[in-house]
Amino acid sequence: LQKKMISVTFISRDGDSMKVNAKVGDTFLDAAINNDVDLEGFGACEGTLSCSTCHIIFKQEDFDKLPDKPSDEEMDMLDLAYGLCDTSRLGCQITLTESMDGIVVTVPAQVADARNR
Ligand code: FES
Repeated sequence: LQKKMISVTFISRDGDSMKVNAKVGDTFLDAAINNDVDLEGFGACEGTLSCSTCHIIFKQEDFDKLPDKPSDEEMDMLDLAYGLCDTSRLGCQITLTESMDGIVVTVPAQVADARNR
């Protein structure tokens, strides 16, 4: 069975907007990697929840609709992320759902790789 595709837009640090097609069931990190989205340093730990470089910022209304609350591990890692917002999450921890079609997320202006501390 072919997985459904949705569109996801990443707003980069330079303000470029990159719209990609991504598979439902993939994470935001997968979506960025599979589409060669040009975000330097993004997803450095490959989704193993140890870097915080996959930090993305949601619009409030999208954030409120996210299916899962962050785990304690994600919260700890988010605390180390650069430019933390109320609507910040880690892209490797969020699975795309059909209702996210057309979603726009922002990548913070800088990365802080928690592994470099
Ligand atoms: Fe490293 Fe998400 S890719 S925490």
